Amino acid sequence: MSQDKKPVLRSTAWFGRQDKDGFIHRSWMRNQGFPEDVFDGRPVIGICNTWSELTPCNAHFRGLAERVKRGVWEAGGFPLEFPVMSLGESNIRPTAMLFRNLVSMDVEESIRGNPIDGVVLLCGCDKTTPALVMGAASCDVPAIVVSGGPMLNGKYHGRDIGSGTDVWRFSEELKTGAITYSEFRDAESCMSRSAGHCMTMGTASTMASMMEALGLGLPQNAATPAVDSRRSVLAHLAGRRIVEMVREDMRISKILTRKAFENAIRVNGAIGGSTNAVIHLIAIAGRVGVPLTLDDWDRLGRDVRTILDIMPSGRFLMEDFFYAGGLPAVIRTLGEHGLIHRDAVTVNGRTLWDNSREAPNWNEEVIRPHDRPLVEHGGIAILRGNLAPDGALIKPSAATPALMKHRGRAVVFENIEHYHQRVDDPALDIDETCALVLKNCGPRGYPGMAEVGNMALPAKILRKGVTDMVRISDARMSGTAFGTVVLHACPEAAVGGPLALVRDGDFIELDVEARRLHLAVSDEELARRRSAWRPPDLGLTGGYQKLYVDHVLQADKGADLDFLVGCRGNAVPRESH
Ligand code: FES
Repeated sequence: MSQDKKPVLRSTAWFGRQDKDGFIHRSWMRNQGFPEDVFDGRPVIGICNTWSELTPCNAHFRGLAERVKRGVWEAGGFPLEFPVMSLGESNIRPTAMLFRNLVSMDVEESIRGNPIDGVVLLCGCDKTTPALVMGAASCDVPAIVVSGGPMLNGKYHGRDIGSGTDVWRFSEELKTGAITYSEFRDAESCMSRSAGHCMTMGTASTMASMMEALGLGLPQNAATPAVDSRRSVLAHLAGRRIVEMVREDMRISKILTRKAFENAIRVNGAIGGSTNAVIHLIAIAGRVGVPLTLDDWDRLGRDVRTILDIMPSGRFLMEDFFYAGGLPAVIRTLGEHGLIHRDAVTVNGRTLWDNSREAPNWNEEVIRPHDRPLVEHGGIAILRGNLAPDGALIKPSAATPALMKHRGRAVVFENIEHYHQRVDDPALDIDETCALVLKNCGPRGYPGMAEVGNMALPAKILRKGVTDMVRISDARMSGTAFGTVVLHACPEAAVGGPLALVRDGDFIELDVEARRLHLAVSDEELARRRSAWRPPDLGLTGGYQKLYVDHVLQADKGADLDFLVGCRGNAVPRESH
């Protein structure tokens, strides 16, 4: 780019001034020991850090930020790290999803209000990725995602165990007496034995993969383990590259195109990615004004073969995926079968296809050839019917084939407490042909749409050796979870969606192939029940949770807050003094 076409940097409105305000902006920064020439008009790069000891998956991010800074300095930029609220999936209550949109606001306003020309987003644990990208997208500045990377494989009693996925298994084994409590406790340290996020294809790994597929992360962003030195190299290179991106005015909206989202949807099908990707990608698309719907997910993902044999759908873990070749090898396979827009641009300035066209596959057990897939029809299936007129979804690769077409008697739980209170009651009238129905766990009802949709089966059914039943709710489920679990039913029960009207003993028909979810109750009876329905009292009197429930959109719209949808740009706000 020629000199006269250089973009005007936002940071010059702070550091380039010749008056008292310029003095203030520069002088206070100099208390950190920066020399005078850092204010010479070079790109100022924000490093948005979600480090927190309460977010164990991101607890190594201070080191990662230092690597990014090396690259920024080297390329002639001025790196400035800043914190935003962090969301640790394993700790925060009532659910991290409640705060995704709050963090996105934190990110958006932190970028816009500060002398930042481009930003490196340090993302890891589940919600930290969409939250940071949503915030940056609403500002439309140049941005690169650096994911923190997955933990090393869990190792327990001579076998590999996966984050989350094996927690559900151990928990069921404890419930049936197959393992002791001491063995259960022993597995804890064996599962989480290095820095990094969940190393199954849970939501964190899925979203890291989505970032690479969208073109927002450098090649191998998805799978490089957190503790592998190549993760540090990736962070270093991202630091270098973001400075160039600022000089090229390569804003996030130039990456997040419709083609990029279509690529990501197909990649999600190929890797057996989390159902949470649906809600997050729709929310991110909403921030950049790209139309993206549930039907896009169904249409584009429907015939994508799941070729990655990784938990929870398959056998292996993220470390194995990296050694097998990582996401570029998957993208290459998709590209060779016409399932990738080859001209989608990525942050390194090359196309997605250029980044992947020669990617090797070192292990065809892990990344299977296209003609030997793990699941023939992967992707996410979108279901509709009188039980979910605005859609519900299921992940076929993690479900039981025999249950994909099923008619079952409903056993209904009004909320998650009702479920816990009732599920193991010996008197509960239930068998394995029934459908478990959970209400009031959607965006508004929980609030925050918690990951409780993969309800554990009743102990008396587990003891029969049964491991899966049809489960239906307006909740989400962890990306590490599995089973014939219908999620995200829209509209949710708490706003009067049909799920609210289901009663014990009703029959529900699920037909994934036909994309149908039907409550076999007459319209007249449903109308009668509707007239008696009252919204649940959420007991909220104020604070962020009140703001959230008053403004949250339904899951099919990405569960963003209505007033946050869209891009508000990065114009420099008025002076502060
Ligand atoms: Fe953080 Fe799974 S708990 S990624």
